[in-house]
Amino acid sequence: MKTSTEVLEKEAGVTPGLAVVIVGNDPASRAYVTSKSKMAKECGFLSVQHTLPEETTQEELARLIETLNGDEAIHGILVQLPLPKHLSSEPVIQSISPEKDVDGLHVVNAGKVTTGDLDGGLLSCTPAGAMVFVRHVHGQDLSGLNAVVIGRSNLFGKPMSALLLAANATVTTAHSRTKDLASVCRNADILVAAVGRAEMVKADWVKPGATVIDVGINRVDAPEKGEGKSRLVGDVAFDECAKVASAITPVPGGVGPMTIAMLMANTVIAAHRKAG
Ligand code: GUN
Repeated sequence: MKTSTEVLEKEAGVTPGLAVVIVGNDPASRAYVTSKSKMAKECGFLSVQHTLPEETTQEELARLIETLNGDEAIHGILVQLPLPKHLSSEPVIQSISPEKDVDGLHVVNAGKVTTGDLDGGLLSCTPAGAMVFVRHVHGQDLSGLNAVVIGRSNLFGKPMSALLLAANATVTTAHSRTKDLASVCRNADILVAAVGRAEMVKADWVKPGATVIDVGINRVDAPEKGEGKSRLVGDVAFDECAKVASAITPVPGGVGPMTIAMLMANTVIAAHRKAG
């Protein structure tokens, strides 16, 4: 079977092109960006990584985005977040052409999701990847199911809630100001955690038989592995919650690889649209 990349190349003469931009030296962000660029290469895309120094200015970043917007070989642009503190991410995100916004964060793409137009724009990658898991367990239609999303970020919580709502789930978006979060979560048939607090969701927050999607990725000390060693954990206390849930995503190896897969899919979609 031909891959999407081969079909695009042979039939439309187009190689999908992805540009990934990172500013600064955050080791976790660097690792994520390397995985994204590497996967793009493995998919046969044109894969370009721009690694900019910590002291990059807003104007320099704006100029790079302008160049990438005008580059015919580039179909997708991703600026890794968070940016260093002296830079504002919002003007950067909004300056990316919506057709090249493979992160799905531009207001045009975010607006399409919230108005229920799931096919016209580009979906935010992490929520789209989380929905693949949800649909694998529950099918396309989530009618009658209660979904609780903990987190209300533009990057994840808001688009995740919108996608669940579009699939007919009854959705609660919980956050740091939510009262009695544990009892709100206990009502969830689908519980999605994206708070950035290591193993915050405990077994007694989980409804027996629920589907649990863990979007957190936190580094914690692991003295059992040796002095100064650390390990990655999610926002969900996996071992205890796995005994109560009927389906649960691990960290690492759950939502993270799905996010990258969705980024590749968005780049192919963007290239297809450009090729007509
Ligand atoms: N940082 C953490 N997750 C993401 C993501 O999905 N996209 C971008 N651009 N930055 C991130």
